Amino acid sequence: MLAAVITAFGGPSVFGLAELDPPIAGPGAEIVDVTLAGVNYADVHHRRGEYARPPLPGVLGADVVGRRRADGRRVAALLRTGGGYAQVAAAPAGHVVEIPDEVSDEQALAVLEQGLTAWHSLHTVGRVTGDDVVVVTAAAGGVGHLAVQLARAAGARVIGCASSEAKRAFLAGLGAHATVDSNHPDLGAALDETPTLVLDGVGGRTFEQLHAALAPFGRTVAYGRVGDVRDTVAVDDLMTSSTGVHGFWLQRVLDDEELYRSSASRLFRLSGLGMLTARIGGRYPLSGVGQAHADLEDRITAGKLVIDVNRLG
Ligand SMILES: NC(=O)c1ccc[n+]([C@@H]2O[C@H](COP(=O)([O-])OP(=O)(O)OC[C@H]3O[C@@H](n4cnc5c(N)ncnc54)[C@H](OP(=O)(O)O)[C@@H]3O)[C@@H](O)[C@H]2O)c1
Repeated sequence: MLAAVITAFGGPSVFGLAELDPPIAGPGAEIVDVTLAGVNYADVHHRRGEYARPPLPGVLGADVVGRRRADGRRVAALLRTGGGYAQVAAAPAGHVVEIPDEVSDEQALAVLEQGLTAWHSLHTVGRVTGDDVVVVTAAAGGVGHLAVQLARAAGARVIGCASSEAKRAFLAGLGAHATVDSNHPDLGAALDETPTLVLDGVGGRTFEQLHAALAPFGRTVAYGRVGDVRDTVAVDDLMTSSTGVHGFWLQRVLDDEELYRSSASRLFRLSGLGMLTARIGGRYPLSGVGQAHADLEDRITAGKLVIDVNRLG
């Protein structure tokens, strides 16, 4: 099989196409003949060697759709140890879900990893209600643009942060009530309304400024970081502001197979009903994984980036 392989940690140019032996299904694993692989910001961290470093040469990529080898069914799968940027993947059987007929491969891929993150950050952790004013950071991104739609569907007022006019117009089209330039030097001051819930996938000054802007009893859900930021929270400040900071990591959903399956089904149902629509922000050949990473890091993408693993150039 062909795969996009990294042989060193570094910039987007570390990817190269290589012919590899296909993975073997060990105990509890299933083989998927991959059609599309997803790109996630976490892959950028992995590629740079900023997260737990995979052995080299290595294949990154955390989400795929394709056909389950055992029965030919159309499935989506999450791969916690990578292996997605390849024509064949071995996935934990518990993390392989069948895709309903009414959901396309692209939509299934886009609403699984990033949709689960948006859903659980917003609902399970954030406990969103129709009374909330929700700020979504990186709102045009893979997670963010789904969170905007889900927050709207929950009846909340939604403010989306994004770095370009085009992205902000996209957010307005999704139903965001207001938008803010994510490069504004003082994000709190740029808001016309006081937020009660911040969904933050960026960290650093974005996290600090938006958390500081919360109404009393408001909360921030921190689900991601871009760049090399390490945020700390002073408990005294939480007490005096009467605000909370909650974390979210998708692994905790994957640890609970029933929760994972039920929430994946819910997202597929919303997708099938047209109530949650992922934007496919870029479709790249297998040889274009490096370009997809470069585009993501350059902040020029909106929505979900997908790799057509059977297209080579
Ligand atoms: N907790 C979990 O289990 C989990 C699961 C999935 C994803 N995540 C996290 O969710 C976040 C979003 O992931 P994603 O895959 O959907 O990515 P994404 O949002 O599509 O892309 C990242 C976005 O971050 C914004 N950004 C702000 N500062 C940036 C900077 N210095 N460099 C690059 N981008 C910057 C950009 O939007 P603007 O240019 O519009 O500002 C960019 O489009 C990431 O932090 C990711 O690690 C967490």
